[in-house]
Amino acid sequence: MEDRRSKSGSDHRNSEIEHRKSEIVLTILGIESSCDETSAAVVRDGRLLANVTATQLFHSKFGGVVPELASRAHQRRIIPVVQEALLNAEVSKKELNGVSAVYGPGLVGAILVGLSFGKSLALGLGIPFIGVDHMEAHIFSNLIEDPKPSFPFINLTVSGGHTQLVFVNGPFEYKLLGETKDDAAGEAFDKVAKMLGVGYPGGPLIDTYAAKGNPAFVSFPRPYLEEGSLEFSFSGLKTSVLYYLRKTGYKPVEASDSPAKNQLLADLCASFQAAVVDVLIAKAIRAAEANGVRQIGVAGGVSANSELRRRLTEVAAGRKIQVFIPKLEYCTDNGAMVAMVGYEKLMGGRTSSLELTAEPNLSLSS
Ligand code: KG4
Ligand code: ZN
Repeated sequence: MEDRRSKSGSDHRNSEIEHRKSEIVLTILGIESSCDETSAAVVRDGRLLANVTATQLFHSKFGGVVPELASRAHQRRIIPVVQEALLNAEVSKKELNGVSAVYGPGLVGAILVGLSFGKSLALGLGIPFIGVDHMEAHIFSNLIEDPKPSFPFINLTVSGGHTQLVFVNGPFEYKLLGETKDDAAGEAFDKVAKMLGVGYPGGPLIDTYAAKGNPAFVSFPRPYLEEGSLEFSFSGLKTSVLYYLRKTGYKPVEASDSPAKNQLLADLCASFQAAVVDVLIAKAIRAAEANGVRQIGVAGGVSANSELRRRLTEVAAGRKIQVFIPKLEYCTDNGAMVAMVGYEKLMGGRTSSLELTAEPNLSLSS
């Protein structure tokens, strides 16, 4: 714990990592296919050369990701996506020194497509394969472009499947400080959007409607849990929205509705979003202060939320804490974050067996 707080200790660690990187030039491919994005990226010498993502938009008509259809779409897209990433990076397959792919957590059939492709490519080229934890990759999305946090930092990972606060002491040195006991933040956004009748995926749509709404219209509960807790729980908040809609006889909006009804929708979106954002901010700041850390990275699909980006940065600045949030294309699932982990792991000699298989419930470990 002591060296986490020591400035000179962390400066030494950061310069040691930079020095090690300057000696060897490695080129690595990263593949992401754990949910509904087929994505591939090329990283050389720790720098991103290209990132190509194909998003499966067709799930919106089913109101959520259909696992079987996701796997089939990955099958169709994996080769063109990888080829485009190599082309954009101006790198030939023969120049690759390693192939990395996500092996969990996520949808098993979806993961298997990218993982099997990645392993086969590595085998065919006679180069190492590196299995990557999707949650570790989200943390690395903050290390793709400048400005980057230096170690140690706190990472708030908020996606459709996870809500986690992680103490990041260095590459491969993580301590899980807290996570959700039930729904993930993104899942709550998606479920509430469904109740309001705004469509899927709910997060970006609620974000857009909320921009015109009053966050104080309804005071939905803020689930902080017990004093000092860094765990999350969003299912009670979701139920509270459901009861409110039932009590007030809310009917989902239609295109022909009056502006007043659209205003009601905007106010409800803003009120729900404010409750989620308040909790995420309070706990991220608490995690940083309790660990003597002055940097917070945010990652995962929900880090695209405009209110979270704006308010977390503002509140943290008032407490002399710096916030890092990746570019939008690196917030949601992407190959760049996978290639960054793959590069670090290859540099550290942490390659994987070709027998590595999909682990849909993989949990973050050091
Ligand atoms: O990280 P991600 O792309 O996939 C998972 O690993 O889950 O996250 C997807 C989640 C979805 O729940 C989506 O509704 C949410 O991120 N999301 C947002 C926004 N953009 C995406 N949530 C709130 N506001 C947004 N702007
Ligand atoms: Zn994700």
